[in-house]
Amino acid sequence: MTITFTDAAADMTDIGGTAVVLVGGDGKLSGAASAANEAMGGALRRALDAKSFKAKHGDTLAFPFPGGMKADKLILAGLGTDAQKPTDARTLGGKIGAALGKLDAPGATVFAGDLDAALVAELAAGITMRRYAFAKYKTGKDADKLGSGGVDIVTGDKAATAAAFIDADALAQGMFFTRDLVSEPANVLYPATFAERLEDLSEHGVEVTVMGDAELEKIGMGSLLCVGLGSQHESKVVVMKWNGADDASAAPFCVVGKGVTFDTGGISIKPAGGMEEMTMDMGGAGVVSGLMKTVALRKAKANVVGIVGLVENMPDGMATRPGDIVTSLSGKTIEVINTDAEGRLVLADLLTYAQREFKPAATVNLATLTGAIIVALGNYNAGLFSNSDALSEQLADAAGAEGEGIWRMPLSKEYDDLIKSSLADMKNVGGRSAGSITAAQFLQRFVNDSPWAHIDIAGVTLMKEAKPLHPKGASGWGVATLNRLVRDNFEPKDSA
Ligand code: BES
Ligand code: MN
Ligand code: ZN
Repeated sequence: MTITFTDAAADMTDIGGTAVVLVGGDGKLSGAASAANEAMGGALRRALDAKSFKAKHGDTLAFPFPGGMKADKLILAGLGTDAQKPTDARTLGGKIGAALGKLDAPGATVFAGDLDAALVAELAAGITMRRYAFAKYKTGKDADKLGSGGVDIVTGDKAATAAAFIDADALAQGMFFTRDLVSEPANVLYPATFAERLEDLSEHGVEVTVMGDAELEKIGMGSLLCVGLGSQHESKVVVMKWNGADDASAAPFCVVGKGVTFDTGGISIKPAGGMEEMTMDMGGAGVVSGLMKTVALRKAKANVVGIVGLVENMPDGMATRPGDIVTSLSGKTIEVINTDAEGRLVLADLLTYAQREFKPAATVNLATLTGAIIVALGNYNAGLFSNSDALSEQLADAAGAEGEGIWRMPLSKEYDDLIKSSLADMKNVGGRSAGSITAAQFLQRFVNDSPWAHIDIAGVTLMKEAKPLHPKGASGWGVATLNRLVRDNFEPKDSA
């Protein structure tokens, strides 16, 4: 879907197709809405007076074949009373995008000339976020409709809007990268092809290094490598560096992702029902990839390192067995009780590697780690686990501001005791209770005292329903939160 910006010169009654006009929560019609109301003999005002349309934030009302206008359809959209923040304008854009998506010809002209440039830019980004479609495997009519239709946005200050759209669009493009990766099936996206897509980020100034089996073995990533032993695909670890801080040697913010391109459970095999959803088990790596794209596109003044572990978890004669003991990069040994608890085995070595190699100012890892987090929090909040109250607060603030749900969960010695092993330093599962917490305790054994957070995104990565800012399917949850975390805490204040 393409977005264009136009200066507010056009006569709105002269526009064909679909026209979108705005009305405040107080019933105040925008300039274009007034013009439409006049052309239509007062129809908009009547709808507002009759209270059949309350003009709440994001409410839309469609008028087919409006009198006195060239347009085939007029959509009246409510700004609400609290649409002054950029993220509110983004949500409004999403809701307008949803209304446009229902039309046969989803293209439109949106008259936003009364809004500040920064709000128009966010409104535009919101439309694209909602109208995103993963259409590459659709053929024929479906393909033509999905994601089609350009949107022209009439704005008071075209230059200022285009300038503000750089950052807003950088976020959207990062999210789309995440959604594309999460949506790809595992026969197309396996560790090597995933790594290839990440190599493309070098076009945007990201330094990308790919390591394969031989090198990972030499380094000693025995925990990560044991997960891929049953797969025909070589495992890969990809390191992405964005060096945007004025001080190139400043300690980076490190973000680490689980990239299991398919998870059958391995020898501890999963039941067949729903197994196809495990193509999304690389969601953590997807968010890391999307964040790297966003910070590069907006040229963030921060040093950010992204590390992803790309592995396929399959059953096979060579696969890791329950009871096997592996030695992690840290030197600690792990008794693998359940080969389906593979994400933590991947992350353990990545966390050790990140801290040894980069001495980060803070580390956040993301993973579709446990079904138990869905039992606990459903699909509304990601689970947050951290050794730092300050970092937790920064993450919660960033998520709150971006409208992404996050909820902190506990960590403590009692839970840690549940993963003691009689044969090795630890086992990889802790029994039925507190499954998400024992997984987090496992990860914490591989981090030092520097600020660290683990975000379990199993419940928020693939959505059964559309929300204002994403269609059904891959949400891209986390790119917006982490982008804001970087902006608000790892960049000079004046550049925000
Ligand atoms: N990838 C799954 C977790 C998951 C479940 C992600 C549902 C998204 C949706 C993970 O590798 C897994 O299989 N975890 C097991 C852990 C158990 C064996 C301790 C689980 O949650 O059942
Ligand atoms: Mn698993
Ligand atoms: Zn998994």
